[in-house]
Amino acid sequence: MKKITFGTPEKIVPSNYCKGLDYKETDIKYDVNNFKFKETTRGCLLEFPLEFGEEVFGFGLQLKGFNHKNHKLQLRVNSDPVANTGDSHAPVPFFVTNKGYGMYFDTARYIEVCCGYGKNKSREPVENNTIIATAEDLYKKCGLKETTTMSVEIPVAKGIDVYIFEGKNILDIVSQYNIFSGGGCDVPEWGLGVLYRAYARNTGSQVMELAKYFRENDIPVDIIGLEPGWQSSTYSCSYVWDKERYPNHDEVIKYLKDNGFHINLWEHAFISAASPIYKQMHDYSGDYEVWQGLIPDFGTEEARDIFAKHHKETLVDKGIDGFKLDECDNSDFVHDWSFPNCTEFPSGMDGEQYHQLFGTLYMQTMLKALENTPTLSEVRSAGALCASYPFVLYSDLYDHKDFIRGVVNSGFSGILWTPELRDAKNKKDLMRRLQTTVFSVQCLINAWYCPQVPWKEFDCEDEVKELLKIRKSLVPMLKKAFDEYKTTGKPPVRALVADYTDDKETYFIDDEYIFCDDLIVAPLTAEMDERRVYLPEGEWVDYWTKEKVNSGWFTVNTQKIPVFEKR
Ligand code: GAL
Repeated sequence: MKKITFGTPEKIVPSNYCKGLDYKETDIKYDVNNFKFKETTRGCLLEFPLEFGEEVFGFGLQLKGFNHKNHKLQLRVNSDPVANTGDSHAPVPFFVTNKGYGMYFDTARYIEVCCGYGKNKSREPVENNTIIATAEDLYKKCGLKETTTMSVEIPVAKGIDVYIFEGKNILDIVSQYNIFSGGGCDVPEWGLGVLYRAYARNTGSQVMELAKYFRENDIPVDIIGLEPGWQSSTYSCSYVWDKERYPNHDEVIKYLKDNGFHINLWEHAFISAASPIYKQMHDYSGDYEVWQGLIPDFGTEEARDIFAKHHKETLVDKGIDGFKLDECDNSDFVHDWSFPNCTEFPSGMDGEQYHQLFGTLYMQTMLKALENTPTLSEVRSAGALCASYPFVLYSDLYDHKDFIRGVVNSGFSGILWTPELRDAKNKKDLMRRLQTTVFSVQCLINAWYCPQVPWKEFDCEDEVKELLKIRKSLVPMLKKAFDEYKTTGKPPVRALVADYTDDKETYFIDDEYIFCDDLIVAPLTAEMDERRVYLPEGEWVDYWTKEKVNSGWFTVNTQKIPVFEKR
């Protein structure tokens, strides 16, 4: 890997906040004369060539796009992307190509990347007047079959550090980026079990009832998550137990622990005036509010210390071993909430930088609160250099196909993503969604708005139980994959193109993924009974029947989730 500095980079950049950063300079083959850099009235601009046939992947949790060649993305934190624009819960300024390298841009700005556009070349006259009558063919015809330009525009900044990673395939390159970020995260085995998030309006007694139901009916839930109802104030938050719903919170914690559950608490970071830390946090917060609460500046040690101390003393020390860090993204398209880009923070960050770093700094603060308590928690926003944080991303969006694409894409960028199950249109929808979450890094049933367990309505408890038991059987394999992630940076779940980078067939496969090295998973949604599956060169068997399967493209038709095992 090699760092190359252009102009004068900003002081507030992700690498300054990454404690485990592991930079070891090596020689690279990439020709740095490829780069063109200049300051502009809009900030600064970096340009470099993309070959014809060069494909571009990564840029974080992109739910709406996969192969970014020829696309324009603005990498901006957002909770409700509506199209393939680059907006994301976790935009990551790192990409890889099939040509042996990847680049990380160390910036907390909303960069715009155009992955292969044409620059003025003073051309010779060549006529090209084939008339086409469909939009699809039209733009195919206009597609550039030549070397194009990738532009990376960084607003405000007068310079940028770029890190170049090289490797034999995409997996190798991504692994190096993850090691550079501090290595993959350390997760406890129980964190990989089943996480059930209870109805937000439940009382402590109802949560104990729910736990009893799981145990008495042999439904293998490992973690119970409490949603907003545990707190006395939520939008914004108090971080204090609600006296009416949870007068017995110590008893609830003891009951859950005695019955072998781990406990995860929902919250977000906007601090209500009803919170005991409100006054202390006042001077370490931004100059705007969200939901009439303070926006803590986790870029300051003071804010981190106060916030972490309160959580440690009142929650972690009492038995809580996980948190769900909600709302640290922001909504630009659907609900319009959060703080403006002009917000000023005591650490010197502006609103744009804080949006891009908020999730990361929030995770760091909560790891401080958790101290040595192992966890696999949740967060709704992450960004650059996040591989070492044991937090899984999730969303309020719910398109099953987009959720599968999220699983596939997460492995390019050092982030973890769960395609959670909530409610379902029908039994088939429920089973298909559950199948996908069973074969993902975190098996999450997020019933926060479901007064009863989501399978009750469809009378399919036995089938759900069977699937959750399959999940339990996958845990040792997943744990091994996570242990490797930590030391080698190899992501536990990834796109086919990561391992099979020379295989052109994989360049557009955004609905199949490699799970723990030896499995390929090809989920189905409720709308499908059959689908096309691709298996790269190699020896494969059907995971369920152990029958041999040939590599290449074929059709599967099954009620189960199609899974194939490498021999
Ligand atoms: C949302 C979150 C949901 C749920 C809900 C509770 O922001 O994405 O999963 O926790 O808040 O209010």
